[in-house]
Amino acid sequence: MTVDRLEQPEWMTSDPNWWTKATIYQIYPRSFYLANPKARTSRLQNTPPFRTKMHPNDDIVGDIEGISAKLDYLKWLGIDAIWLSPIYPSPMADYGYDISSYTDVDPLFGSLEDMDNLIKNAHARQIRVILDWVPNHTSSLHPWFQDSISSKNSAKRDWYIWRDPKPDGSPPNNWKASLTNESAWTFDENSGQYYLHFFLKEQPDLNWNNPEVVKSMDEVLRFWLDRGVDGFRIDVVHCTGKDDELADSDEARSWAPRSVIHEDPSTHGLLSHWRELAKSYKQNPVLIGEVFLLTLGQIVNYYGNSDELDLAFTFPAVFIGWNAAQFKSLILELKSIYDGKNAYPAWVLSNHDLPRHLSRFRGSLNTAKCAALMLLSLRGTPFVFQGEELGLTDVKLEPQQEVDPGHRDGSRAPIPWDKSPNHGWPIDRDPWLPWPPDSDEKNVEVNSLIQEGVTHTYKSLIELRKQNLALLEGSMEIIEGIDEKVLAYSRIGENSSVAVLINFSSHDIEISQFNGCEIIFDTFTNQPGGHFGGTLEGEAGVILKIR
Ligand code: GLC
Repeated sequence: MTVDRLEQPEWMTSDPNWWTKATIYQIYPRSFYLANPKARTSRLQNTPPFRTKMHPNDDIVGDIEGISAKLDYLKWLGIDAIWLSPIYPSPMADYGYDISSYTDVDPLFGSLEDMDNLIKNAHARQIRVILDWVPNHTSSLHPWFQDSISSKNSAKRDWYIWRDPKPDGSPPNNWKASLTNESAWTFDENSGQYYLHFFLKEQPDLNWNNPEVVKSMDEVLRFWLDRGVDGFRIDVVHCTGKDDELADSDEARSWAPRSVIHEDPSTHGLLSHWRELAKSYKQNPVLIGEVFLLTLGQIVNYYGNSDELDLAFTFPAVFIGWNAAQFKSLILELKSIYDGKNAYPAWVLSNHDLPRHLSRFRGSLNTAKCAALMLLSLRGTPFVFQGEELGLTDVKLEPQQEVDPGHRDGSRAPIPWDKSPNHGWPIDRDPWLPWPPDSDEKNVEVNSLIQEGVTHTYKSLIELRKQNLALLEGSMEIIEGIDEKVLAYSRIGENSSVAVLINFSSHDIEISQFNGCEIIFDTFTNQPGGHFGGTLEGEAGVILKIR
C-alpha cells in the first residue's frame, strides 16, 4: 500500500528550522508502554519471514499503540517531537538495530496502520514523529544480505563489503567490531570470503559505494516521508562511507566497544544527498546524526556547510561527570568550534546506549533537577530520554539477567506509569527487564502531582523555553569570575537576557554580582518568584532575568 503525500497543516510547514526550538523525546518502544497485548498475540501468530528468534519475554514489551496512548502525557510535558528507536521487522540480535525490512513494522510493535495512526495522533497534538534510520548495516536476515551471501555471482553481492582472506586465511584487516570487540569480519565458508560488520556479525555493513544501495535507501526514506514522518535520527552515520582500501588501522586496534572511529569522506556526499531529498518535503524533515565520535571537532564536520546534518549529538557531554568546570570548558570549546560553522548543538545526557546520567553522576533528585535545568537552558536542541524526567536511575542486573550483547540493559528498563504492582502495564508477570529502582515513587502518576518534583522541573522549563525568547533563540556566553563549583552562563536575546546559575556542590555559594535580579526559575520550587539574594544553595539552580 502506498500513501499519497499528505496535506500538511500550516504549523508544520511554516518554520523550516522548527527543530531549533523543539524539545525532542526519545522513546525506546520495547520499554515505553503496552496498550494492546491481544492484538499483538494475534499478529505474532503469523511471524513474517526474516523475523526469527522470539525472546521469551516478547509478549510483555511495549507496542506502538502504547505510544499513541501516552501522547497526552508527552503533550502535557511540552514535548514537540518524539524519536522512536527502531520499530522495523528485526531478528532483534541488537534489539531492532538489525533491520530485516526497512518499510514495515515488527509485529511485536504493531502494524503499518498503527504507525499511520501514531503519526496522525501525534500531529493532531502538534507533536512530530522522527524515526531511527540505520543505513550503515542491515540484519544478516534482510533479503538483500540473504541474496548477497547466496553466491559470489549474486546480483546483490556488491551491496555488502566482501573481501578475500589474507594469504594465511586471516581476516582482511585488523578492525574490531563494536559491542563485541572481536574481529569486524566474519568468514563465509560457502564463498570463501569475509564480510565486514562494524557491529554484530548479524549486522553486515552495506556498501554505500554501490549506487543501487543509494537508490534503494532513497526509496526507504521516501516511503516514510510520504507517510508523514518528520525526520530521521541516523544511526552511526559517520561509519556509513567506506574507502575501497580498508587498510589496517592503528586506531582500529584500540577500538573500545563503544567507539567506532572509521570515517571516510564519502559519507559527506551521502549526507548532502539525503539532506536534499529530505528538504524536498514540505514538512521540513530534520536529519539528526548519531556521530559517535569523541571530540566536538570531529562531530562538527558532519554539519557540512549547513548542507549535511541539521543536528548532531554533542556526545562529549556524556563522557564527563557532574562537574561544573568540565561542563564550562566543554561549552567554551563548543562555542569556539560551532559558532563559526553555524552548527546548532543537540544536547543529550542519556540514551538507550548509555548508563542514565543520574546513575553516572551518582546524584540525588536535586542533581536530576539541576541537570534538567542545564539541558533545557543551553543553546541547542535538548533531547530527553524516556524516564529521565522521572529521575530514573539504571536497573542493576546480575550478569545472567543481562540480555543485550553490549551490556546496555541498565537504562532500557520499562517506564513505570503508576504505583500499582505492574506499574500501569497490562501484564501479570515481570516485564522483559526488571522495573527501575524506586518505581513506587518514581513513576508518572506520582510525579505528575508533585509541583516541586523533578517531572515538573522538566515541564516548567520546557514551557519557559517556549516563552522566553532569550532561552529559545538567544546566543550563549559563559559568565566568568564565579566560584568554580558553579556553572554560569547567559542567554542573550534581542530584547532580554537571562543568567543561568547551577551549583554543582552540596554547600551554599555566595554570588554577589546578581544580587537583586528577578528569579524567573528556581529548581527548588520549579517556579519563578522573588529576587536573588546573593547566595545559591547547594544542589540548586536558578534562571535570573538580567536585562
Ligand atoms: C547505535 C545505536 C545502538 C546500536 C548501534 C548499531 O549506536 O544507538 O543501540 O547497537 O548503533 O546499530
